[in-house]
Amino acid sequence: MTIKALCVVGARPNYMKIAPILRCMEGNPAFQPTLVHTGQHYDASMYDVFFHDLNLPRPDIWMGVGSGSHAEQTARVMLGFEPVLLEYRPDVVIVVGDVNSTLACTLVTVKLGVPVAHVEAGLRSFDRTMPEEINRLCTDALADVLFTPSEDGDANLLREGIPPERIHRVGNVMVDSLLAALPLARSRSTVGDLGLDPKSYALMTLHRPSNVDSRQDLERLTDLVLRVADMLPLVLPLHPRTAGNLRKLGLLDTWRQAPHLHVLEPQGYLDFLGLMDKSLVVLTDSGGIQEETTILNIPCLTLRSNTERPITVEMGTNTLVGDDMEAVVSHLDTILANGGKRGTIPPLWDGHVAERIVDVLCRHFSPGPPHDGETDVHHD
Ligand code: UD1
Repeated sequence: MTIKALCVVGARPNYMKIAPILRCMEGNPAFQPTLVHTGQHYDASMYDVFFHDLNLPRPDIWMGVGSGSHAEQTARVMLGFEPVLLEYRPDVVIVVGDVNSTLACTLVTVKLGVPVAHVEAGLRSFDRTMPEEINRLCTDALADVLFTPSEDGDANLLREGIPPERIHRVGNVMVDSLLAALPLARSRSTVGDLGLDPKSYALMTLHRPSNVDSRQDLERLTDLVLRVADMLPLVLPLHPRTAGNLRKLGLLDTWRQAPHLHVLEPQGYLDFLGLMDKSLVVLTDSGGIQEETTILNIPCLTLRSNTERPITVEMGTNTLVGDDMEAVVSHLDTILANGGKRGTIPPLWDGHVAERIVDVLCRHFSPGPPHDGETDVHHD
């Protein structure tokens, strides 16, 4: 008998987390995986190209929920996912990350009595104004099997009363995708096509609602990007949310026309990885990019006042700069002078995380006598 595993993705940061897990399951006769895309992200630039770059198969099910308020989007995912679950009747649903689709599918699944495995559990920014923090807290409270990327994740879950036997520290699964894609990413010509030399430019991404949804924040960011582009060439692939808000305020052309500022469409996985790998410094408000720069040993200035990924600050190359323009300038000066912060790679971020996840799932969900009742956090 095989384990029927329903794997869920919804938005861009989910794809690099599910791809290695799906690949491992496909090579294992114990599993029968099915891939569901909720359609939270639907633009080709936010979806198609990633499936291609990550060698992901076409989703078996496309729900097409689209954009909306948080309540609308979450509700539409729930409504769309329930019949899928009832039809497929899986042994386990696997959700990744912290997007609205992650929480919505978890809620539906536990209410139908099906076990949920959450990959990237335990991360906490302790900032409940972030929609992702609410998604993380609720998903982890409900999931049956929690895969954490680092020790802080275990500690957060234990503090919240999650039974230790549910927690499995396996490492950061995104690293599996990154290491597999790096040779191809390095061969991309994007940097040269922009007329730039490796290690001569900064790369920036911005999409958090707390940074890009108000006029005041976008005006502050306009000052920041112009100042950075004054110091070194700046490459900036624009998320649709950011582009849309800039357009509404009449600021998009200011950005597009600024000297040394290369405003690009959202990039695919390989092109973005290539851009990151050859950059001198990255500035971002993304979560995953804080981790990817740590792996690539490139200094990252995070334009947020908190992070749910503290290990990237403690061990990696990440520095939180919030909205402090002078801190950004001073860090850039240091980076231009001596390369800036260097770090080490956190334990278990080794490219074999999906194998550990699939092993645990196999032990949990294979038919047969229950395995021994361990009582401590598992280090798989
Ligand atoms: C979502 C995730 C966030 C993740 C980000 C990566 C939540 C709460 N947020 O935020 O954690 O870091 O994805 O991108 O789940 N849009 C398009 N085309 C698309 C998708 C979105 O044009 O394919 C536009 C729409 O105007 C939409 C806006 O972008 O309203 C925001 O999209 P949404 O999925 O709501 O959230 P993100 O900001 O992308």
